[in-house]
Amino acid sequence: MSYEFLNRPRRLRDHPVLNSMTTETHLSKSDLVLPVFVTESDENPVPIPSMPEIFRWPVNLLTEKIVEWKSLGIRAFALFPHIDESKKDAKGSEILNPKSLVYQAVRQVKDALDDIALIADLALDPYTLHGQDGILSEDARVDNDPTVEVLAEAAVLAAQAGYDLVAPSDMMDGRVQKIRERLEAEGFIHTGIISYSAKFSSSYYGPFRDAVGSKTDSPVDKSGYQLCPANFREACRELALDASEGADILMVKPAEPYLDVISHARDTFDLPIAAYQVSGEYSRLWAAHMQGWLDLDKCALESLVSIKRAGADLIFTYFAERISKLI
Ligand code: PBG
Repeated sequence: MSYEFLNRPRRLRDHPVLNSMTTETHLSKSDLVLPVFVTESDENPVPIPSMPEIFRWPVNLLTEKIVEWKSLGIRAFALFPHIDESKKDAKGSEILNPKSLVYQAVRQVKDALDDIALIADLALDPYTLHGQDGILSEDARVDNDPTVEVLAEAAVLAAQAGYDLVAPSDMMDGRVQKIRERLEAEGFIHTGIISYSAKFSSSYYGPFRDAVGSKTDSPVDKSGYQLCPANFREACRELALDASEGADILMVKPAEPYLDVISHARDTFDLPIAAYQVSGEYSRLWAAHMQGWLDLDKCALESLVSIKRAGADLIFTYFAERISKLI
């Protein structure tokens, strides 16, 4: 039996060549940014139990490792420090030490390698004993303006050390403008800003906090500065503010739970849009895979293609190494 249907969209899907020729979204290695954890210890890479296949890299092994990642086709790396507790204080002062881990790391890598982009994450949480992204006021709130001052100063140190982009991940008000002004004033006109513009107060950051060692005995509540997961319009406002303050790239984070926000950002701004597939998005797929419940590679690929289809130009992902071997 057959009907005379006018539309049979399956025609294109049912033919392998036509199916592949009509594929709309292609993930490529040049879309990917690999977040890299760096440690001061000079021995072996330290595995992070909640993030299989992800390590903290000692600075002295970092260059060699980046050469290897580059040979897989990965060209952009965002560095995150794990520093010793003894260097942490209430104000995160270590971020202003020009000899600090993240500045040393970029010097070494850039001396040995070009043709890659290095991104400095700007936030105080790896440096503060309380694990918040800013300096606390007397009433224990995260104090916006003094924090912005420190971040602008740290942006200059990052630029001096050789980072191509700085990435404020703190969600303080006005920080993109202050960072841009400070970089311009110091002559760092080529250093770009990739701003965590719509960063949600998400429970998916847990494994990352293990990785950078910013976990404290009581859970850290960042809802006083990161966005409420229920708020779309407020996210749009944050994106617009960062665009007007001079960000070069706008970021949405986490990625897959917030595809609506990525899609809005793509439709509204002419700037490149980045999305950060965060630690919890990575670990949940791994956990299901370890139970034998999901196919890790296929799910990772589907998740990244979905993020790209929603409108992301760049994707920060811990799957970058694994996926580069597949695509
Ligand atoms: C903190 C920062 C976080 C991440 C990147 N920068 C965590 C947080 O806000 O607590 C999360 C990344 C991830 O989960 O992979 N400045």
